[in-house]
This record gives sequence, C-alpha cells and structure tokens, in this order.
Amino acid sequence: MHIFAHRGASGNYPENTLSAIDAALQAQVDGIELDVQSCQDDFVIIHDTWLDRTTNGQGKINTTPLEKVQSFDAGNGQYIPSLQQALIAVGQHTLINLELKHTFRLDKFVTCIEQNIHDATLSRDQLLISSFDHHQLLWLQQQLPWIKIGALTASIPLQYAQFAQQLNAYSVHIDKNFINHEYVHDAKQRGLKVYAYTVDKQQDIEDMQQLGVDGIFTNFPCYAKMILSR
Ligand code: G3P
Ligand code: MG
Repeated sequence: MHIFAHRGASGNYPENTLSAIDAALQAQVDGIELDVQSCQDDFVIIHDTWLDRTTNGQGKINTTPLEKVQSFDAGNGQYIPSLQQALIAVGQHTLINLELKHTFRLDKFVTCIEQNIHDATLSRDQLLISSFDHHQLLWLQQQLPWIKIGALTASIPLQYAQFAQQLNAYSVHIDKNFINHEYVHDAKQRGLKVYAYTVDKQQDIEDMQQLGVDGIFTNFPCYAKMILSR
C-alpha cells in the first residue's frame, strides 16, 4: 500500500510548507499530496481559500499577490511556498499529487506544468492531478492528455466508480469514512487505483490495508510506515 504524505508530513510540520515536504522526503514516502490555489499573480501551496487559518495573515488568497502571501508566517517561521518552489523541493524523488482547489486559473496552470516538464524539474510519470471539481479535471485532461487524473469524492457515487472511468482517470480518491468493499471492487475492476484520505490512526490504516486500497493519504507518514511494516 502506497503512503502519500498529506499536505506534506503535516502531522508534525506546518501543512503544505517546505518543512513538511522535506520531512516527507526524509520519511521516504511514495508520494506527497499538496493543495494548490491561485493567488493574484501565481500559484501557491495552501489548502484554504483564505490566509487566516494557517498563517498569521488575513485575506483571500486569490486577490493577494505572491509577495504579500509569502510575507506571512505559515508556522515555525515557514512561508507559503509557490507551486514552483514546491516542485523544486520535491524534485524527482517521489510522486507528487497536486490537488487543485478553488478559483483556479487552469490555462496558466497548464503552461506552468509544461514548462516544468520541459525544464525537467518534474517528470510526467511523477505527476498526479486531483480535484473535487471533475469539470476542471476533464478540461485539464483535454489540454494534457498524458496527465494522470485523480478523481476526488467525499463519498460513494450512485454508479460507484463509473464517473472516474468517464474522466479517463488514473485513480479515485475517497474519504476513508465512506469507502467499502463494493466501491474498491468496482474501481479496481475498472482499472482504477483506489486511494483513501485522511488515514492517521492505527485501526484506520489496518482497515484500509484489509480493504485492499492501493494507497493512503496520511498526516503521519513515518507512523503509517511503521504500522505497515509490522
Ligand atoms: O487529496 C486528499 C485530501 O487532501 C482531500 O481533502 O480537504 O484535505 O484537501 P482536503
Ligand atoms: Mg488536499
């Protein structure tokens, strides 16, 4: 079962920061999940649409310029990384799952990804793009047909994983509290990988293993690896 560090190793380091990325790399995870938002003039790694919860700043991300976004403390003296800084920090060491959040400038994002592939900051195989907005994913895949798509849902759709096949997705990402055998079976039959979030507790990790999911997103990658190695 693959281990993805959720927002980096965010259980012990400020979420979505370079320190959380470094700690995840040190834990030798299989992948790192990071949330991406548009700020006024760039892309930044942050979960919320507002600065307030995770920094000492205030205001909406998408109307704030990068320089100002990065002037705030995101915890332990860390700043909010730009997408570019995060990609450089991850390097080619592990899978990178970029979760696209709201109010996203997709055309600019496509240009940014293409540039990073061209500059070899990133390899195609490394990249997995996910979103709860499946229209966003569809559009993205039309622009970059090679890209691996992860279709996020909170719960189980009526037609199980059929929607993800329509999206030509690589994987389905589902809340651990909704996942069940039927869904895992259906998704696997359709050739999809199944990843569950956010799985931190021993019992949950063992339950996901029992269900046969392909990977978990966890805030505590070292702990999850220790549990799985027993
Ligand atoms: O990508 C899995 C998970 O991160 C989705 O929910 O709210 O933690 O971004 P959230
Ligand atoms: Mg996320």
